[in-house]
Amino acid sequence: MTKAKSETTSDARSETAGGLRVVRTIAELRGLLAERRAVGASVALVPTMGALHDGHLALARRAREVADVAVVSIFVNPLQFGAGEDLDRYPRTFDADIAALDALGAQFVFAPSVEEMYPDGPSSTRVAAGEVASLYEGASRPGHFDGMLTVVSKLFHIVMPDVAVFGQKDAQQVFLVKRMVSDLDMPLSIDVVTTVREDDGLAMSSRNRYLDETERKTALVLSEALRAAADAASEGVDEALAEATAAFGDHDGVELDYLVIVDPETFLPVAADATGPAVALVAARVGTTRLIDNRPITLG
Ligand code: PAF
Repeated sequence: MTKAKSETTSDARSETAGGLRVVRTIAELRGLLAERRAVGASVALVPTMGALHDGHLALARRAREVADVAVVSIFVNPLQFGAGEDLDRYPRTFDADIAALDALGAQFVFAPSVEEMYPDGPSSTRVAAGEVASLYEGASRPGHFDGMLTVVSKLFHIVMPDVAVFGQKDAQQVFLVKRMVSDLDMPLSIDVVTTVREDDGLAMSSRNRYLDETERKTALVLSEALRAAADAASEGVDEALAEATAAFGDHDGVELDYLVIVDPETFLPVAADATGPAVALVAARVGTTRLIDNRPITLG
């Protein structure tokens, strides 16, 4: 308690004009949040890797709506990047991120160093994400979801939020986080916010900034394919997949990774004769940039 109080005072200069406070250590954040909880405040967490866009800001806004205190974490988690992936070049736009979060009234940004999160090097204890984690994103990025759930689990233990807010854009991530929370009896709820899109339909992503002008146009094929799947969904799974695949037909410079329709309850591929709510998932490489998107559909 004493420690938390002295840290609170000594770090007062990290507060921005709008009252947002940037916290770098676990001890300091725990102390500050304990003070808020002691007066009855509820806490919402938005885990991010920074390079914030309007999709992230929608999550932060939701956090402000559903809890008294909104904590946004900004941490590019090395554990969830594989060899040869974009860990080193992942966009880092810290000052702009802070300004945007300050403007919408978030109270805390937790921005720890890698050493603060993993003082003994990459943690040897990991959350095993289970069978679904080896499919789709997990098939292309082995170990990604174990690394993601490990850091999300650490953040949940550090922040102890009443609610954590995630974006539907990363549908498999959302499914696995919910599963972890349920399997491991974590005492919080998960709030999911609809994907935010550019005017032309491209799902917002921090990785969109890797795209050059031509690639940016090509990238529209993902949302177009999902729209085609949604339009054909009343005719059944095969037709929906055929129409979505056809959307990729005419495009150069894009390599389809997977296109699949899954059951939202199990996240496994639906049977050929499935009807009712489902989710169409797509991943593709546009130039050197790997993009994902998804859309709820209703199979007829
Ligand atoms: O979605 C992301 O940005 C990351 O996977 C997350 C949830 C912040 C964990 O590092």
